[in-house]
Amino acid sequence: MTFVSIDFKFIPHEKAMISIFDRGFLLGDSVYEVFRIYPEGRPFMLEEHFKRLKKSASQIELNIPFDFQTFNKHVYDLIQTSGYTSSYCRVIVTRGIWDFNLFPDNVKSSKVIFILNKFKEYNKEFYEKGIKMAIVSIRRNHPSSLNPNIKSGNYLNNILAIKEARKKGAMDAIMLNHKGYVAESTTSNIFIVKNGVLFTPDLRAGILNGITRSIVIKLARLNKIPIKIKNFTKHKLINADECFITSTTKEIMPVTICDNLPIGNGKVGIITKKLMNLFKEKGRYFNKI
Ligand code: PDD
Repeated sequence: MTFVSIDFKFIPHEKAMISIFDRGFLLGDSVYEVFRIYPEGRPFMLEEHFKRLKKSASQIELNIPFDFQTFNKHVYDLIQTSGYTSSYCRVIVTRGIWDFNLFPDNVKSSKVIFILNKFKEYNKEFYEKGIKMAIVSIRRNHPSSLNPNIKSGNYLNNILAIKEARKKGAMDAIMLNHKGYVAESTTSNIFIVKNGVLFTPDLRAGILNGITRSIVIKLARLNKIPIKIKNFTKHKLINADECFITSTTKEIMPVTICDNLPIGNGKVGIITKKLMNLFKEKGRYFNKI
């Protein structure tokens, strides 16, 4: 069952509705976050997700009408009501009702929606054998356009990218930025390994500042895995020894085929495996980045 609240009031999911005039629905004028609740009902990196929600909102001049204490308490209430030990939560803040104007003048009816569901694990094979990805022609938004660092409700760019990847027989897409450097995937960040060095694109490449990405960077540094935060081309990606993507829901997911070619020897790499273990044993217990 899915548990829902609107403006902090619990509502049976089949009755949870917002206006068709809401700007989130009509214009993608909203921000959101996705976070996990790990077994034993432990919300993960809640404060970091709250901070990013505030940051996304401030970049589109949207007010977040609650503080961290309220957010934190509500998440615990939701977890308790659901009874789920391992779940997934999505929080959305929309700007509110559209008054037939694009310019959001005097819009005051902002809505806060929480959706919590049991966490559905990805197929084990994805972690054991790695996944297939494709570099697509759809570019990640230019940072001077809709900045990818804003986690907004407008994912059309990424939907186009994943559709293209699926047509090519891949599970997900790797998008390049406006300069032709590797940026990120549709709902995850990307890392490669070459000659024992881990690489991940710089935030200035135009990507979301992923929380899992930051944990992986921290784990690498703490465990003396050489890491460079540096942009790289698709040629470097195709010729990498290892590759993986990171996100709240996927954690660290190995990529072993790109554009129908094996990455390295086509198997999950040593550094990827090491980081996957470190994430499971340590990363999941970090409190902040
Ligand atoms: N996606 N890049 C994009 C475009 C994303 O949407 C996400 C998150 C990430 C990874 O960020 P994090 O590690 O903080 O989850 C990178 C979430 C999981 C989603 O939309 O479902």
